[in-house]
Amino acid sequence: MKLVLLGPPGAGKGTQAQLLKKDLKLIHISTGDILREEMKKESPVGKEIKKLVESGKLVPDEIVTQIVAERLKALDSKTGCLLDGFPRTVKQAQDLDRILKAIQQPLDYAIYMAASLPVILKRLTGRRVCKKCGTPYHVKNRPPKKEGVCDLCGGALYQRADDNEGTIKTRMQEYTANTAPIIQYYEKQGKLLKVDSDRESEDVQVDLLKKFKADGKFDHHQNTTRA
Ligand code: AP5
Repeated sequence: MKLVLLGPPGAGKGTQAQLLKKDLKLIHISTGDILREEMKKESPVGKEIKKLVESGKLVPDEIVTQIVAERLKALDSKTGCLLDGFPRTVKQAQDLDRILKAIQQPLDYAIYMAASLPVILKRLTGRRVCKKCGTPYHVKNRPPKKEGVCDLCGGALYQRADDNEGTIKTRMQEYTANTAPIIQYYEKQGKLLKVDSDRESEDVQVDLLKKFKADGKFDHHQNTTRA
């Protein structure tokens, strides 16, 4: 299965990705995580990316699309994947269609995680992320068992440099101007699946799995016996 997770900053794309990838045995490709890895290397490209990401601006289409194309082409035909944070512009969506066509693996759904602004602000300002494995936590909603330590890998938790009110505002502006038009793009293709992401992530997950099962895309019994 090939999935895209769409939605404003803080809608819970990364959190939902962690849940779905286990159930559906998918490879999680997060462009935000890949770009932050590149920033850590402090390469010339990494330094350029850092300026953009930390000010809330989008990274140029060519850079991000090339990264995603390489990852997708490296997957074997049986491996499903979940794209989180890509595409983010109509140009990226068109390029993704082209890449998937070339590898003969069409997109199954674009999941639009709709969330309201007050919820987004609370989620982003309270988010903490594992430095080692990237798992997102929240100081109130999803605290780790031990403060500052990842439950899954024991890595240290940190606050992202772009999770402050000023940068969140720019990220929201970028989302409205460049990313929101993709919703219509996928609606026209009949691939859009809209979920109310103000709710608990587990409730969203259950609804999505039900829908995939009803469409014959996911056999829950088979999956649990394999797990
Ligand atoms: P990216 O890392 O993709 O950031 P984003 O899209 O702004 O999304 P976030 O990661 O902030 O939020 P999320 O929806 O994943 O929410 P999460 O699950 O963490 O991109 C960062 C930057 O990289 C961009 O600004 C841009 O510069 C660049 N970039 C990336 N991709 C690009 C592209 N394709 N093109 C160009 N530039 C690109 O949840 C947030 C918090 O809420 C967490 O604390 C979590 O625990 C909590 N939470 C989540 N769900 C729930 C829930 N249901 N109930 C309660 N709490 C919840």
